Amino acid sequence: MGDDITTATGSLLERIRKEIIACGGLITFARFMELALYHPDLGYYMRERRRPGRGGDFITAPEASPYFGHTLARQLAEFWERLDRPSQWTIREYGSGIGGLAYDIMAGLDAESSQAFDALTCQLVEINPAMRQESLRSMAEAGLAGKVEVTAPGALPPITGVLLANEVADALPVHRLVRTGSGWSEAWVAIEGEGFAWIHAGVSREAEPALDYLRREGIDPTPGSAIDISPASMEWMREIACGLGRGYLLVLDYGYEASELYRVHRLQGTIRGYHGHTVTDDPFVRVGEQDLTAHVDFTALRRTGEASGLTFAGFTTQGAFLSSLGLGDALLALQREPETSLQEYLATQAVVLRLIDPGGLGRFGVLMMARDAPVDPPLRGLRDRPPGF
Ligand SMILES: C[S@@+](CC[C@H](N)C(=O)[O-])C[C@H]1O[C@@H](n2cnc3c(N)ncnc32)[C@H](O)[C@@H]1O
Repeated sequence: MGDDITTATGSLLERIRKEIIACGGLITFARFMELALYHPDLGYYMRERRRPGRGGDFITAPEASPYFGHTLARQLAEFWERLDRPSQWTIREYGSGIGGLAYDIMAGLDAESSQAFDALTCQLVEINPAMRQESLRSMAEAGLAGKVEVTAPGALPPITGVLLANEVADALPVHRLVRTGSGWSEAWVAIEGEGFAWIHAGVSREAEPALDYLRREGIDPTPGSAIDISPASMEWMREIACGLGRGYLLVLDYGYEASELYRVHRLQGTIRGYHGHTVTDDPFVRVGEQDLTAHVDFTALRRTGEASGLTFAGFTTQGAFLSSLGLGDALLALQREPETSLQEYLATQAVVLRLIDPGGLGRFGVLMMARDAPVDPPLRGLRDRPPGF
């Protein structure tokens, strides 16, 4: 196994170096990130061996606890009600991994509203072919094969239902833009010795839409500031929004609205690498072996959604969202259960706190939008918003 990893990393480094040389010595960071994460055979997200999760590099909320999906199901049940209880509806989940969140959601929905569950098809959109296979296998084992479709990303037909993405947008490639005294430059990637280094040069054509967005939003930080921004996430939003005929969009991820994201303490960039539950701000180490992420600009996603005809329903934190949906009820239910041991209760309490911890998963952002579906009165997950939201 160790040798395979070394070979794969070596090949990926070689592949990136060749491309840098072919491009005259520089590639954008977005291209570097695309190769490091999505190279068809060698990219971090494309390899057969699964890394995210407890044995991997980080834990997502659904991996932390099934309560996450069970609680989310309450919001999904409300979406179904507000769509006038369609006899067929679809939850299209992007970046579904091995299908763990979808499984928890279906279990939660079955408990919450069996009619909504019966009418449901779950469509899992996952870029990694091995994970697509694994989800099909595990859904069949769970007797859910008839309710689940699995597909690769791309243009998909419009649905009535819900677009859902948990911790996907933060893995889409970003450009690093740097404010200069007279305008903007871009931090590109060059070869340095056996590794890579940042080199500042003009803004690439690919980053121009992001620059236009920053100008439109009036984001003009002091010279020397660095902003990591993802035109790919705007493109992704445009593409997925086209696939929503009628219904809701729910995006959960690490990130903020622009007014919060581009505050002074985050103006050295937000690119991070995750490996073995440690974090680094050096993206040039363990290439292909560490996850790369950057904070999501939820205002950019919102604006793109609006330009694609979606209506803004609200933005909140994951902690407030899950609390509004009654995550705490899990503890009350356990308390009422005579067989609950103290150990079991404390373990559940720890998980609940972890999901709403304002210093951890609880500060993730939650964006809700709608097409041809009511957003008033506020959706259940938006009822108890933190101050300033
Ligand atoms: C951080 S994991 C999150 C998995 C799952 N949503 C969760 O919360 O546990 C990101 C997942 O998104 C997938 N992914 C990344 N980019 C994608 C894209 N453009 N379209 C579909 N899936 C993507 C990755 O392969 C991976 O399974």
